[in-house]
Amino acid sequence: MAIQLVTTAAQLRAASARLLAQKGGTSQGLVPTMGALHEGHAQLARTAVAQNDVVAATIFVNPLQFGEAADLERYPRTLDADLALLDAEGVDLAFAPGVEEVYPGGAPLVRITAGPLGEKWEGASRPGHFDGALTVVAKLLHYGIPGAGLPGGGQPAYRAYFGQKDAQQLALVRRMVLDLNLPVEVVAVPTEREPDGLARSSRNRYLSAQERVSALALSRALFAGAAQRTPDAIRDAAREVLTEAGRADPPVVLDYLALLDPRDFTEVADPGYTGPAVLAVAAKVGTTRLIDNLPLEIGA
Ligand code: PAJ
Repeated sequence: MAIQLVTTAAQLRAASARLLAQKGGTSQGLVPTMGALHEGHAQLARTAVAQNDVVAATIFVNPLQFGEAADLERYPRTLDADLALLDAEGVDLAFAPGVEEVYPGGAPLVRITAGPLGEKWEGASRPGHFDGALTVVAKLLHYGIPGAGLPGGGQPAYRAYFGQKDAQQLALVRRMVLDLNLPVEVVAVPTEREPDGLARSSRNRYLSAQERVSALALSRALFAGAAQRTPDAIRDAAREVLTEAGRADPPVVLDYLALLDPRDFTEVADPGYTGPAVLAVAAKVGTTRLIDNLPLEIGA
């Protein structure tokens, strides 16, 4: 394996500096993850490797963004398989710190607040989740800053990769980088799907075969919506699929379906709206909560 595993911020910086110098590199990419990697994460890594001279992926299950201790505990940990996947994609460095490295002072007293954008939609069903996620993302973005300047002066380009799959997280990270002037370019990577449309997720492993069939209604609803041209028609077409799926066995229990402004996640209210939007859905199938979304260009 060519990939190097590092566990401290100091090791990451030193390894990054060494690799940039060795390769004569002018850019570094960072791929933050919680491990349990699948083809969706692989797509992020692939994109980062294609666009940067040096790429680091982080693997850290962040206690701050979990509501219940039980969820944190049962989050899958598959380090060896994760390293193999990242190595196969050409990632140079895997940064897998322990909790003490990331939170040296224990549970942090000072945190990032996601603000109003963090309270809606996913935030409504997971109070504090986005505060915890942004707090660790801010740390990870700091850790991933290239470890050395360019030989002639100046800084290497620095890009961080996030999945469209978690559209609200992506919007919040963009907003945090803007609001806090973090020195990084945020790159969004389209959602990777199974051949039948199901968005790849570490939670899919909890679905029984029959639940998985019901779960296909989420992506089907989004694609039905995306085929329409006005906000009302988009919502109606998607809702029709989900209403039908609510009668399936097992049923799809809808949490929300919403057509959103991708910048602030407010609902698109104007029936004549044209421009970018995100059609987002969240639902439970059995005990598994699933989310999916599609970016749209209304009126295009
Ligand atoms: P995690 O759930 O491991 O996801 C890591 C990254 O992979 C996120 O940016 C997520 O959007 C992306 N991703 C997951 N499934 C995807 C798919 N099917 N297609 C494309 N991208 C996909 O999101 C987190 O971890 C954490 O909140 C983190 C940002 C690491 C902070 O702890």
